[in-house]
Amino acid sequence: MKLLSPSRRIPTFLGSTDISHNLNYPLWQLVDVLLPLFGKYYTYTSLYETIGSANHIWCVYENGKCIGCALITDVGSNRGLYIMLFGIRQSAQGRGIGKRLLESIIIWSSRHEYKFIYLHTEYDNEKAIGMYQKAGFRKQFYQPDCMDQLPQFGSDVVPMVLFLT
Ligand SMILES: CC(C)(COP(=O)(O)OP(=O)(O)OC[C@H]1O[C@@H](n2cnc3c(N)ncnc32)[C@H](O)[C@@H]1OP(=O)(O)O)[C@@H](O)C(=O)NCCC(=O)NCCS
Repeated sequence: MKLLSPSRRIPTFLGSTDISHNLNYPLWQLVDVLLPLFGKYYTYTSLYETIGSANHIWCVYENGKCIGCALITDVGSNRGLYIMLFGIRQSAQGRGIGKRLLESIIIWSSRHEYKFIYLHTEYDNEKAIGMYQKAGFRKQFYQPDCMDQLPQFGSDVVPMVLFLT
């Protein structure tokens, strides 16, 4: 698991809101943000495993505290990314932080020549669906050939995709 690699820089953000990617984030800080948001679906152990399986971890720090994160993995054979979990601590929601984090992920993914970003969200999660749609994601109920080997979920979730140019 890349999280504790000693060669990686440790986040030392102070006094502002910073968005970063794949630094040496303390695991407990990610769990502290994500478990309250996704405790309906994850135990501590399964969340720990999901964090360990992420190829890309994005975090938002404010005044030295982790207030949001996204766990993303590479999917398919055509330069796709799958957002496994994306969450902003409840006390920090509604301030544009989720939008900024998503924008940073999209810009980074485009620069690194990824072709699409795929995700599932709950069908009644209007907040998340609104955020993703404003960023250009569209609901995608069929799977084009270029998007092979994607994770599949049940009918209570909405698959969404953003094609990157
Ligand atoms: C969904 C979530 C990530 C949004 O993060 P946030 O920081 O609160 O959102 P922002 O303040 O950046 O708002 C981004 C967009 O979300 C939508 N949004 C935010 N609050 C909303 C609300 N109360 N109702 C409807 N849409 C809302 C809007 O489209 C907004 O864009 P706008 O400000 O230009 O109108 C956050 O609420 C969260 O972590 N929720 C719990 C976990 C979750 O549902 N994750 C996503 C599924 S994986």
